[in-house]
Amino acid sequence: MSVLLFNLEKPELEYYFHEMVQAFEPGIKNVVAGDWDTKLTQRTIGQKIEYSLEWQDGKTFKREYQVSDKKNLEDKGIYKGYLYDFLSEYHQKKLMWGSLTGIKPVKIVQKLDAAGFSEEAIAMRLEDYYRLSHDRTRLLLNLSKIQVPFIAAGRDKIGIYIGIPLCPSKCSYCSFISTTVDRKRENLSHYFTNLLLEIEAVASLLRQKNLVVDTIYIGGGTPTVLDVWQLEKLFAVVKENFDTKNLREFTLEAGRTDTLSQEKLELAKANGVDRICLNPQSMNQATLDAVKRPCQVEDIKSFVSTVRKLGFKILNMDLIIGLAEEDANDFFSSLDQILAYQPENITIHNLSIKKGSKIKNDLGISVDDGYGEAFYQQVRQRLAQNGYDPYYLYRLKYTAGNSENIGYAKSGAEGIYNIMMMSERQTIIGIGAGATGNIYFEESDEIKKIFTVKDIKTYNERFNEILEKKCMMISEAL
Ligand SMILES: C[S@@+](CC[C@H](N)C(=O)[O-])C[C@H]1O[C@@H](n2cnc3c(N)ncnc32)[C@H](O)[C@@H]1O
Ligand code: SF4
Repeated sequence: MSVLLFNLEKPELEYYFHEMVQAFEPGIKNVVAGDWDTKLTQRTIGQKIEYSLEWQDGKTFKREYQVSDKKNLEDKGIYKGYLYDFLSEYHQKKLMWGSLTGIKPVKIVQKLDAAGFSEEAIAMRLEDYYRLSHDRTRLLLNLSKIQVPFIAAGRDKIGIYIGIPLCPSKCSYCSFISTTVDRKRENLSHYFTNLLLEIEAVASLLRQKNLVVDTIYIGGGTPTVLDVWQLEKLFAVVKENFDTKNLREFTLEAGRTDTLSQEKLELAKANGVDRICLNPQSMNQATLDAVKRPCQVEDIKSFVSTVRKLGFKILNMDLIIGLAEEDANDFFSSLDQILAYQPENITIHNLSIKKGSKIKNDLGISVDDGYGEAFYQQVRQRLAQNGYDPYYLYRLKYTAGNSENIGYAKSGAEGIYNIMMMSERQTIIGIGAGATGNIYFEESDEIKKIFTVKDIKTYNERFNEILEKKCMMISEAL
């Protein structure tokens, strides 16, 4: 692999350079000292920013950019923007997201909106300053517009996330920290006991602060790996401890059909769950088998009809682009099959390969496999033709397509928890191993993240200490 050396006059730009270089060449190794194949130099001369690439054989590629206002030399984003121009010219390629590498781009629009910028001014900022394509600019503006009323209605309330990071087995592509339930289900049982204690302790803190619960999300892992009596107990503890009368949404992830039964779904419905996630990932049986996801397509179909019969308000279905050997046609075949069920939400992820997964290739899906811009446009078009609009989005770092994951919804059926979590404009309390919370401070429009230890073993072994520390952090922050 070729090595790129950063030779920066402003070392504080290193992270920005790393992100921009990776966006053009995912996986390239960049260093700040030692051997190199290519050297990237940044200099500032008066009001000129200069970038150059240099190779061991003496070849160079150099450009300079005139900054109109001296004050702009203090702004790291200006350097990143010109670095984008420089690399874009060198690679002869434009990126749809321009110089934007953050994972929550909608937040930029919402901050500008809150600061009083008009839609036109926001669009200009996105296209001129961040070099965003017109398409992604429109996507962000439309998405932000959909989110605004949901955010406004939930700002002074809180969301609750309850995490069950356990699964009956590990899907081979999975990059989440999720533990496999052991043969005697002891790790699950131990975790479950502690989780209930954490719910009680945290809820008691929240009651003291008179906070109104807006959404509840029980996620995983696979929460439906719990036995029927455990699920029943969980719902009872949730109801006893949280005032649910003002809930706008109650989600249960019921991702894998091998953990599902009519009884569990009935229980969820009877306890107020109104959004249920049944995640095929692919509707191609050979793909599910190849990625060791022990779900039968026939079962997915039959549980969709159970969910419909029981009358849940929202059915969400997740798909992943690029699983196993799938190409664009395979993806559209899955998409068309789930479109036939008209789920209220469809969430489309790009396969991302992180350290935790069992797949070796570390770049995820590739444009060379037919997953270029035309493919993404076609996905959006197909969904639009069927009445779905993008309502939340987050981006992935360091992927070949530098792409985005998008949640689609039929109008009025948007997933509220997802919007609130991504907008970072509401306090979200995360309960359980791996759960992340956001404490929102309205005056500064900022959040403080509260993390919980990720692995079940540590959570179980050091539960009292973890709980005490967490309660202290929450009560100090609230
Ligand atoms: C946190 S997971 C929880 C859902 C549940 N565990 C399941 O697998 O159905 C949420 C979603 O992330 C997506 N996902 C999981 N692993 C992924 C990966 N390696 N790359 C991209 N998306 C992934 C899947 O679509 C999954 O439904
Ligand atoms: S993909 Fe979902 S179900 Fe599969 S192991 Fe990961 S968290 Fe569990």
